[in-house]
Amino acid sequence: MTVAIDGPASSGKSTVAKRIADQLNLIYVDSGAMYRTITYVVIKERIDLTDQKAIVNALNSVSIEFERTVEGQSVFCNKIDVTDKIRQNDVTNAVSIVAAHPLVREVLVERQRKIALKQNVIMDGRDIGTVVLPDASVKIFLVASVDERAERRHKENKQKGIESDLTKLKQEITDRDYKDSTRKVSPLKKADDAIEIDTTALSIDEVVKKIKEIIFEKYPNLRK
Ligand code: CDP
Ligand code: CDP
Repeated sequence: MTVAIDGPASSGKSTVAKRIADQLNLIYVDSGAMYRTITYVVIKERIDLTDQKAIVNALNSVSIEFERTVEGQSVFCNKIDVTDKIRQNDVTNAVSIVAAHPLVREVLVERQRKIALKQNVIMDGRDIGTVVLPDASVKIFLVASVDERAERRHKENKQKGIESDLTKLKQEITDRDYKDSTRKVSPLKKADDAIEIDTTALSIDEVVKKIKEIIFEKYPNLRK
């Protein structure tokens, strides 16, 4: 069983995917964290963001692993915990440039498919339903207005004690969506057979409930 969740930045993908993973006993795979991890390495090693060959070279010696924790999920790069580092602004603002390189995507898509071969997964990202798992059992495309998405990130930053400027956040989200939707390879796009859910006015619980209903329609045995 594979559940694909795609959508633009801050549409709620990882939050709802983690909850559904816990409730339905699926492995949660955060494909965005993989692009963030290689971007973090590129910045740390001062590799040129446009040098695709050098980035792929670096990626080939980078292991990316996930570990479920009580708070969510930790990400390890060559066994070192990079969970917080990959969410920092420098990574967020560079990741869409790194993720646009076709050869970088080739390596990561292969790793993502390998994970999904071995276990029941719920994977979130931008191209999961279209490219990574085109035969996914269930495909969801989450959207929300850019104002709402910026507000959500702003609130999250404030809760974490991270400095946050709403106008700047809105601009950054808009820029990233534009880069992700217009790149040549695997752009952010709803798969033809994906179900779109507008979460602008929905709570996390409401979105989780809707997606679970869609999963239960296909797998009635999972309904308790
Ligand atoms: O959580 P947030 O929406 O901020 O982003 P993310 O899921 O962590 O993804 C970070 C970036 O990685 C995206 O803006 C894309 O540039 C890239 N990405 C991608 O190209 N393909 C994916 N399947 C997942 C992420
Ligand atoms: O993974 P993605 O970037 O799509 O979004 P996220 O990190 O799961 O969600 C961004 C923020 O929006 C988090 O702080 C969530 O708690 C919040 N959220 C929300 O307020 N309402 C929803 N329906 C979904 C997420």
